[in-house]
Amino acid sequence: MSRVAYVNGRYRRHSEARVSVEDRGFQFADGVYEVIAIDNGRFVDELPHLDRWDRSIAALRLPAAMGRTAMRRVMAEMMAQNRVRQGILYLQLTRGQARRDAPFPRQSRPSLVMTCRRQPPPSEEQVQAGAAVLSVPEIRWQRCDVKSVALLPNVLAKQKAREAGAFEAWFTRESDGVVTEGGSTNAFIVDGGGRLVTHPATNAILGGITRDRVIALARAVGIIVEERPFTLEEAKSAREAFLTSTTTGVYPIVRIDDASVANGKPGGRTLALSGHYRTFSATGAMPS
Ligand code: PDD
Repeated sequence: MSRVAYVNGRYRRHSEARVSVEDRGFQFADGVYEVIAIDNGRFVDELPHLDRWDRSIAALRLPAAMGRTAMRRVMAEMMAQNRVRQGILYLQLTRGQARRDAPFPRQSRPSLVMTCRRQPPPSEEQVQAGAAVLSVPEIRWQRCDVKSVALLPNVLAKQKAREAGAFEAWFTRESDGVVTEGGSTNAFIVDGGGRLVTHPATNAILGGITRDRVIALARAVGIIVEERPFTLEEAKSAREAFLTSTTTGVYPIVRIDDASVANGKPGGRTLALSGHYRTFSATGAMPS
């Protein structure tokens, strides 16, 4: 069975799906995207993702391609046609095709693309092993809350991390040492009192849907959560650290640059939250 992509109203064979060389997403990164996990044949946190999608579209003043009901119908059709029970759906909306000129074109039809692929979440062994992160200077713009396709700083940061043997890069502000977030994940630590700490959802970070879910899961099991900035120094001496995203769930961090986090093994709160998130992802159930 071949993969299917959705492009502007049509379902195409993935390998043959195309957009124009004059698409403003290609030329100016003038577009937004979403990544939604599929687990057990259902979308995880579908509505919060669509709410963020709407906010990103509004921030860039993009014309909406279709209403929510129609969107959800196409999304369900993509999951079915691609026969994905565990994986991700990718959505992208750009300002469409127009003669290359930076200001908004007077008339353009937005370009809506969806792709879908199988992708298992990290294995139990990977979670138990944990990951390393590398700090990199925060060089991004001041609207990181918008899920824009302009991801070059993220691409370069993640490549630098990989070349250093790390799984993720942590954007760290040089002025005050604050860790904002990862290249494609949100950053959390557990402080000496067992409280979860993560950067507040300001325009300095992308407010992750997984981040929000993990905060809700933590509170549901009685863990105190503080949404406040933390520094790289604080993270290196934290009791635990982890990252969150649609594709990774709750993933333990065991090394930050050259420093082991605690004893270099995933922490207890992290592993518990990782388990709660897996259950939520597969079933939609919150801990009682
Ligand atoms: N990345 N921060 C950034 C910069 C991100 O790109 C992402 C998501 C997150 C986590 O958000 P969420 O929990 O909603 O996935 C945080 C997606 C998965 C990606 O680019 O593939």
